[in-house]
Amino acid sequence: MTILITAGPTREAIDPVRFISNKSSGKMGYAIAQSAAEQGHRVILVSGPTDLDVPDRVDFIPVESSVEMFAAVEHQIAKVDIAIFTAAVADYRPASVPDQKIKKSGETMTLELVRNPDILGSARNQFSYQGVLVGFAAETENLEKNAREKLERKGCDLIVANDVSRKDIGFDANDNEVLLVFPDHTDHPHKDSKQHLAHLILEEAITLTSVSNPN
Ligand code: CTP
Repeated sequence: MTILITAGPTREAIDPVRFISNKSSGKMGYAIAQSAAEQGHRVILVSGPTDLDVPDRVDFIPVESSVEMFAAVEHQIAKVDIAIFTAAVADYRPASVPDQKIKKSGETMTLELVRNPDILGSARNQFSYQGVLVGFAAETENLEKNAREKLERKGCDLIVANDVSRKDIGFDANDNEVLLVFPDHTDHPHKDSKQHLAHLILEEAITLTSVSNPN
């Protein structure tokens, strides 16, 4: 099978030397990519900047901004069976980016931001993608309810939901505890290493390919 994975943070330029980003380490997405490659699947990893080594036998497409990630996914998604969106994509970017470094002037500074494209949310309609679609949801409250709402809104087959208010799991941690929110039920696997959860998420996605395409 061919599996597309987005991972890591995006960087939204403010000027040539500054950017807006977030604390995503990329660990979850890279662990899924590694697990899939070890099983012999073709893996396309579209990733924002991380400190991680690219797993062996993975087609790696490095990107910086959400607009670049959107373009890379749009270009690749038609040929994949499973798409797993783990990236922590910035929701907004600076409205304009000057060619030169911004010099300090007044006591306050206002940065105007504009909405970024929703890459996962574009898969079904804009990209006409019909394969298995897995999204992630980082929430600080009402985990299952918010994740289920995201599942429906973005046309996903599975949302992996993280409680990012907990210090022991999520973003930079090595362990994670997630809810697996499907259209008709929710699973709650126990807390585990990101490697083990990566393997589990991949298995769930592979099972979904036979449900959505029984022949
Ligand atoms: N995502 C994406 N493109 C974006 C924003 C998010 O592809 N511009 C994907 C993420 O990779 C993740 C899922 O959408 O798989 C959920 O992202 P999240 O930021 O939690 O959800 P939002 O829909 O942005 O909702 P909110 O900010 O209201 O929580």
